[in-house]
Amino acid sequence: MIYQIYPRSWADGDGDGVGDLSGMLSRLDHLGGARDSLGVDAIWLSPFYCSPMVDFGYDVSDHCAVDPTFGTLEDFDALLAAAHARGIRVLVDYVPNHTSDRHPWFCDARSSRSSRRRDWYVWADPAPGGGPPNNWPSTFAATGPAWTLHASSGQYYLHSYSSAQPDLNWQNPEVRAAMIGVLRFWLDRGVDGVRIDAAHRLGKDSQLRDNPAELAGRRTDLDPTVRERFRHIDHAPVHEILRDLRQTLDAYDDRVAVGEVGIADLTRMGCYYGDGDELNLAFCFGLWRQPFSAVAYRDTIAAIETALPRHAWPAYALSNHDLSRANSRLTGPGDSIARARVTATVLLTLRGTPFLYYGEEIGMTDGPVPPEHATDPDGRDGCRTPMQWNGNAGAGFTTGDPWLPIPASAATVNVADQLTDPRSLLTFYRDLIHLRRETAVLRAGDYQPCAADPYVYAYHRHDPTDDVLIAANFSDSDRRYADPRLPARGERLLSTAVAGGDEVELRPLHLRPLEATVIRLV
Ligand code: NOJ
Repeated sequence: MIYQIYPRSWADGDGDGVGDLSGMLSRLDHLGGARDSLGVDAIWLSPFYCSPMVDFGYDVSDHCAVDPTFGTLEDFDALLAAAHARGIRVLVDYVPNHTSDRHPWFCDARSSRSSRRRDWYVWADPAPGGGPPNNWPSTFAATGPAWTLHASSGQYYLHSYSSAQPDLNWQNPEVRAAMIGVLRFWLDRGVDGVRIDAAHRLGKDSQLRDNPAELAGRRTDLDPTVRERFRHIDHAPVHEILRDLRQTLDAYDDRVAVGEVGIADLTRMGCYYGDGDELNLAFCFGLWRQPFSAVAYRDTIAAIETALPRHAWPAYALSNHDLSRANSRLTGPGDSIARARVTATVLLTLRGTPFLYYGEEIGMTDGPVPPEHATDPDGRDGCRTPMQWNGNAGAGFTTGDPWLPIPASAATVNVADQLTDPRSLLTFYRDLIHLRRETAVLRAGDYQPCAADPYVYAYHRHDPTDDVLIAANFSDSDRRYADPRLPARGERLLSTAVAGGDEVELRPLHLRPLEATVIRLV
């Protein structure tokens, strides 16, 4: 299981109000190597590279240097070594689709139409009557079209995100070589893998044709009703590019590429695994759009399990730095921490690699960020407020003035309080993660859904030597769940409601309100 750290918000070592690498180093006990650690296998760090921070690091101006806000390359090396010493692997963000508009490559590209690196980015003449070359939209709602006119050269440049993030032209072999060089730089430093930002955007229609008229204005295809293919994302060259990246990774021992593939069509998404020669993992966006519902979870996983080819290992997350936190988003019966236990149990027991966004383990919610403190070009500040380590001023995150306001909830929702409370969400996450670590079938076994039920999502994970049932009651009333194919009894490994270790009657299985349980079938 992989823990996502948003570096600005996790731990501030130098007191400037922004998280950094030395802060991270000082908080590694939370993740691994200590008696009370969560026990994560790996961390994924969102970007910490030199950046003007228009998109908080996803606008990179030097891929091979650490932004002074976060520290130095030596700080990174120290963090990497300390993480490895604790058995924690480290994945870094790799942002290949675009750079900052202040990256030296773009500064050169825009200096004149004949500059050496002009073709490193995507330029086009205005449409015949003037205006942007086509109808492609930027992903950020407030940005509008994906094109900005560069007045002095009279051409538009393409930007999938803000105008400060021009898209690289991956059809240019020099771009490819340079970006593969970036990948090697971090692999040589010893990172265990990369999370590839916006992987589905690396392939675009080479003729820059308009999106079909009925899709004009649609920004992404996360809406499953969109059947027609867009022309600004998910075009054929992307697969050849990913194969190149994978070959680069595979030249090293045991490295991983997990891609952000923001498309709803699961069959197309499955193609991003290639024949086992593209991504190792692709984030399944499915759960992010689902309400707190047994039926919705069951159907979403069924669709993913059916559509992905056998060799495609799914990656699941309930939250990340781009969307409202699960604990704010997933409204429903009972209290939010009880619901969080249910979704945590599912996340940690599905067939796939679970990703845990920082703060989810203590039940952080989106912070209220008043307009005068809002900073993000796409309105995502709420899910990025500082990690709540303790109830003191600064929440144990900083001794300075935090870059985003610390939510008042830090007084009661924090690591220090939960660490010693056997009934806390943090303790539950730790138990779940440990159970997953010591139960091979939960990590690698097959997935088999059990009988459908409007309130209970139940499935088992099995391999030739073990069979484990997971049953999650999404309602706040007692349920008696029955599936005639289940044996009469099982051994409870874990439950949100009672201590484990006892023998359980399965015909039917009694589930308490919002109880999720893991039972070994015997
Ligand atoms: C996806 C990242 O997750 C998001 O935070 C960022 O704004 C865009 N890609 C652009 O890099």
